[in-house]
Amino acid sequence: MPVQLRPARTQDVADIRDVVAPLAQERVLLQKEAVAYYESIQEFLIAEDTDTGETAGFGALHVMWEDIAEVRTLATADSHRGRGVGSLLLEELLDRAERLGVTRVFCLTFETAFFTRHGFSVMANQDAVDPEVYSELLRSADEGVAEFLDLARVKPNTLGNTRMIIDLAARRAAKGQESAASQL
Ligand SMILES: CC(C)(COP(=O)(O)OP(=O)(O)OC[C@H]1O[C@@H](n2cnc3c(N)ncnc32)[C@H](O)[C@@H]1OP(=O)(O)O)[C@@H](O)C(=O)NCCC(=O)NCCS
Repeated sequence: MPVQLRPARTQDVADIRDVVAPLAQERVLLQKEAVAYYESIQEFLIAEDTDTGETAGFGALHVMWEDIAEVRTLATADSHRGRGVGSLLLEELLDRAERLGVTRVFCLTFETAFFTRHGFSVMANQDAVDPEVYSELLRSADEGVAEFLDLARVKPNTLGNTRMIIDLAARRAAKGQESAASQL
């Protein structure tokens, strides 16, 4: 199944919402208003099935602070699961994070095995950020950031998933070792 990654367009919002709706029903992903997707469309990557033109999957990278971003709303359509689409999207979002200059990427997920295989680890200390950045992030109006900070106002809607993190310098080093090994 050939898949191509591309930046999302406004016309993708309907497909994104269709895939997210049942996952939100199962409380796997957060339900968002349509306007939230349009406002953040530039954060999204789409994996397009080049045979059928279908949306195979998508994911977004949301920058939270100078050195921190979050992978969010990463999902593969049921019809395309288990064929490497999620991995392709996640790796490209992490490359995008590198290019943007952040050094750590977080995610909130139930898919801990999948993210672990991509170099994420469960945050031993669930405190995400130092107190100074925490107080700055409190000013954010973004619901995902509020969930990330575990704020009381969003608690009734939070999903109870696990906070994970990847250090991009460690990822770079691991990739360097991989390519060195492949040259042997
Ligand atoms: C997490 C999620 C995006 C993974 O999507 P996916 O496209 O199924 O992921 P992949 O196919 O890349 O990887 C899943 C497994 O499929 C198998 N797989 C991967 N590539 C494959 C291929 N080419 N052929 C056959 N099997 C393959 C592997 O077992 C893989 O595990 P790995 O990580 O050890 O490689 C998907 O399960 C999902 O949409 N979950 C619900 C939303 C969610 O929880 N998102 C995360 C929080 S934002």
